[in-house]
Amino acid sequence: MEFSATSAAPSRHQTDCAIVGIYHTRRLSQDAAALDRSSRKTLSSALKAGDANGKLGTVRLITKVSGVSCKRVLLVGLGKKNEFGERQLRTAMDAAMSALAESGAARVTCYLTREKVRDLDVYGAGRIAALAAGAAAYRFEELKSKKQPANKLREITFAVADDIAVADIEIALRHAEAINEGMNLARDLGNRPANVCTPGHLADTGRDLDKRFKSITTKVIDRAGMKRLGMGSFLSVTAGAAAPPQLVVMEYKNGGDSAPIALVGKGITFDSGGISIKPAPSMDEMKFDMCGAASVFGTMLTLAKLRLPLNVVGIVPACENMPSGTATHPGDIVETMSGQTVEILNTDAEGRLILCDAITYARQFEPDTVIDIATLTGACVIALGAYHTGLMTPEQALADELLDAGRAAGDVAWQLPLTEDYATSLKSNFADFANVGGKPGGAITAGCFLQKFADGLRWAHLDIAGSAWNSGDKKGATGRPVGLLSQYLLNRAQAE
Ligand code: BES
Ligand code: MN
Ligand code: ZN
Repeated sequence: MEFSATSAAPSRHQTDCAIVGIYHTRRLSQDAAALDRSSRKTLSSALKAGDANGKLGTVRLITKVSGVSCKRVLLVGLGKKNEFGERQLRTAMDAAMSALAESGAARVTCYLTREKVRDLDVYGAGRIAALAAGAAAYRFEELKSKKQPANKLREITFAVADDIAVADIEIALRHAEAINEGMNLARDLGNRPANVCTPGHLADTGRDLDKRFKSITTKVIDRAGMKRLGMGSFLSVTAGAAAPPQLVVMEYKNGGDSAPIALVGKGITFDSGGISIKPAPSMDEMKFDMCGAASVFGTMLTLAKLRLPLNVVGIVPACENMPSGTATHPGDIVETMSGQTVEILNTDAEGRLILCDAITYARQFEPDTVIDIATLTGACVIALGAYHTGLMTPEQALADELLDAGRAAGDVAWQLPLTEDYATSLKSNFADFANVGGKPGGAITAGCFLQKFADGLRWAHLDIAGSAWNSGDKKGATGRPVGLLSQYLLNRAQAE
């Protein structure tokens, strides 16, 4: 999907379809009114005949318009004018895109970006609109045996008021294009089942990025290498699996000799729970347990496309968590790469066991900041649901940077407390500590576990268990938090 910008008025701009707004109730937006005048009231008479009244997310495609340069007009309900904000813009774009997918239009022009969007400037509205379009156009069909009818939509032109605004929105669209590509990579990786998206597949994804971009160098460490590094914790998680584990390390270098930002993504390509096996219902969704890793690959792609002047290292520990005769038993004690020992009371709390060694591994890069991203706990889904990503860090300044980036990108996070009080539940009679606390505050005790490996690092943890994929009939990976992470890196690049 390509994005471009124009400041041309709707009646004189050639396009397969003009997307214009109508507010509740039956109030044509300025652009809709202009089209209506030039087309001898085609729009208002269509409105009178039908039931389109401007309710948010309703659409009406008008195929016969004369007197104007566009072939068709798609009227989109924007809701109440004084309430038109980010969420409404997203909903409207989403509705417009589904209507267009069926219309066969290849090049369309969207005028919704000429509306006043609450709390957003031209750049912000452009980003949200373009990313919503990208999300709505996304399909995952590579594993269907019959070819699906292709979505013909190729290009969306976003209209703005004047040439100054064109320059603003063009930056937003360039960013959105790169973020969209990164999110699509993250979605594809997440949606692929565990028999396709194996640890080896994630390693190949890292190697592909290396091939594609001069700025990225990838190295993959195998089981023998992990043994040499002393990653006893990571290795305990893969002990029951037939698929060999992989540690994927991608270095993006475009920031001189500055200390890198490290992104560490949980790459469990299937989480059965291991010997502490999960119940059957929804277990298929544990193919999504590598969405943290997917977001690291996606963000590396976005970063390289935008050529941001930074140094970033992406680290992905990848393996399966499976039960078998060689699997780790509950009660086993392992030595982590940091030297600390862990009693594995529950083999289903495996994410933290691979992440802790990956965080220790990150130290060799002397990173400026370390951010781990993980579908870590069901407790985070209970606490925050699907909308906010859980954020934990002892560094308030870093928390604020990540929260701001999330808000700016429309990929929001919410901070949870990370205090010593919660860490006490990890105590073990036999090792330095256990890998689980009790049920209460489960997202936070997982954060406390990771914190034990982040001593002296500027570190934050993102729990994306709720935000990384949708369940139910919209089941599928969301591509989050590539938006948040990319925005954080954009902000860092700007600050540098
Ligand atoms: N991958 C899961 C977390 C998860 C569960 C994400 C459901 C999304 C939906 C993780 O490895 C896990 O199993 N966590 C356990 C931890 C518990 C044993 C302390 C959990 O959340 O139940
Ligand atoms: Mn688990
Ligand atoms: Zn897991």
